[in-house]
Amino acid sequence: MSDPIRVGVLVSGRGSNLDALCAAAASAGFPAQVVLVISNRRDAGALEIARRWGVPAEVMPVGDFAGDSLARDRAMRERLRAAGVRLVVCAGYNRILSDDFLTAFPDAILNVHPSLLPAFAGGMHAVEAALDYGVKLTGCTVQLLEPGVPDGGPIMIQRAVPVRDDDDAASLRERIHEQEWQAVPEAVRLWCEGRIRRAGRVIRVVSASPATDPARIPAESHP
Ligand code: GRF
Repeated sequence: MSDPIRVGVLVSGRGSNLDALCAAAASAGFPAQVVLVISNRRDAGALEIARRWGVPAEVMPVGDFAGDSLARDRAMRERLRAAGVRLVVCAGYNRILSDDFLTAFPDAILNVHPSLLPAFAGGMHAVEAALDYGVKLTGCTVQLLEPGVPDGGPIMIQRAVPVRDDDDAASLRERIHEQEWQAVPEAVRLWCEGRIRRAGRVIRVVSASPATDPARIPAESHP
């Protein structure tokens, strides 16, 4: 089997998706290895998760860059490149990445969002917004990030979660998280196996094709 793809993970919070990804990566035959975690917050629980899995973690708050988020993104880009990262996963990263960063990893940045996009896009309160709106079905989305509308990138995986009448934000968020813990490792696996094809913003998963370099998602025309 070829060497696992080197993955970098950006985090800001608790790190349960990072935990799920590291657990998947520790299983036999998983095609990715988490080699670097970068947090923009010193108090992120994800840093402890990284330590437990033995993954190097760095903290890059924007305050260390005189409040210049572009400078911070450039520093992150260089750290990820130096670590040989080919796929970046935003697992609860709470800042919008600069175009400079996004274009440095074309078709190679995954993001997880706690709603069925395009519903409840943008912002950090998608779970509360879904409850307030009264939807009966929500869920999670794993998408590719690219310059443009935040949360507007092509969709790789969605998993639905029914809303219960007695849900509050905490209970609904927990069930969405349970789906994310499946969806994020699955998206990473598909990407690393070179099984992603895109036509415009439409992504299709194909059966295994070992000859494909996953870093270059082949374009295809609509069937
Ligand atoms: C997830 O719900 C994700 O969808 C959102 O932030 C949350 C991160 O959770 N972007 P965790 O830090 O992985 O536990």
